[in-house]
Amino acid sequence: MIMGLPFAKRAARRFVVGETLDEALPAVGDLNRDGILATLDLLGEDVMTPQEARQSTAGVTGILDGIRRAGVKSNLSLKLTQMGLRVDPQLCQENLEVVLQRASDLGNFVRIDMEGSDVTDVTFRIYEKARERHPNVGIVIQSCLRRTEKDVLERLIPAGASVRLCKGAYNEPPDRAFPQKSEVDASFKRLTDLLLSPESRSRGVRTAIATHDEAMIRHVKDKVARGEIGKGDFEFQMLYGIRRDLQQSLAQEGHTVRIYVTFGTQWYPYFMRRLAERPANVLFLVRNIFRG
Ligand code: FDA
Repeated sequence: MIMGLPFAKRAARRFVVGETLDEALPAVGDLNRDGILATLDLLGEDVMTPQEARQSTAGVTGILDGIRRAGVKSNLSLKLTQMGLRVDPQLCQENLEVVLQRASDLGNFVRIDMEGSDVTDVTFRIYEKARERHPNVGIVIQSCLRRTEKDVLERLIPAGASVRLCKGAYNEPPDRAFPQKSEVDASFKRLTDLLLSPESRSRGVRTAIATHDEAMIRHVKDKVARGEIGKGDFEFQMLYGIRRDLQQSLAQEGHTVRIYVTFGTQWYPYFMRRLAERPANVLFLVRNIFRG
């Protein structure tokens, strides 16, 4: 019902670049002209039939061809529940393989987003199996989860993984996730230190720091200033529509910046997560009702 309301559609457009790949690719070109990279995401998650999963797989694979055709600098992000994880993990693995093979053929890279903690284990298993065949796949970890430090130390650093660190956007129970923002932030800084340590880098770990939080960004920039790491040792990542000023200033300072650019018709859950993150965004939604 909400997806049919014009004011909700208008408000969602702050975070969602458009409904089609043809609308998304020029936006990526604009970012590239500002010296900013992208990762494209076709919205969609929790598909419940094999047919929907195959359709999503075709849509996601088509992004890789679109990137090549348009000659823009972007890789791809996807969700495993979009590839059929909730239908059958084996089907999901097979669909992921199709995407990864196409990415390998085109010399591109695929990032597997991390979803709610009910699928963390199976997401790691599918990622690890895929990585045996494809070095061009990376994973996301969430600093809000209590388990993440162990995952980093025991799985990701030894494997020399490509990791995007974020805080986590899903509502989690306190036995699995830190309930206080201060704990999530402290965990984010600890994980940043682990991922960017000399040992991790010598094992080939590649790190993306995905946040708009200036305190987290400062933590990384201080390491650069102290000479512990170079600007080429990591990238900053942010979401389309959030803190564009910060995105541009980091790029102008010579940091690698990549924006997560979402498009598609299935914007409702993504939009709700963006609203939930920041109460002020609800006012933004209300303003759109009156603008209409
Ligand atoms: P925090 O929430 O503390 O916000 C810091 C500041 O950022 C705020 O004060 C505000 O200025 C700004 N801000 C943050 N969110 C905003 C919003 N919605 N609207 C307006 N301003 C906002 N999560 C996940 O669970 N799995 C995943 O795979 C990913 N992938 C991912 C990729 C990328 C590139 C990014 C940047 C983020 C994700 N996330 C994610 C989302 C992430 O977990 C988190 O929910 C958001 O990034 C918000 O957290 P911050 O780190 O920005 O900090």
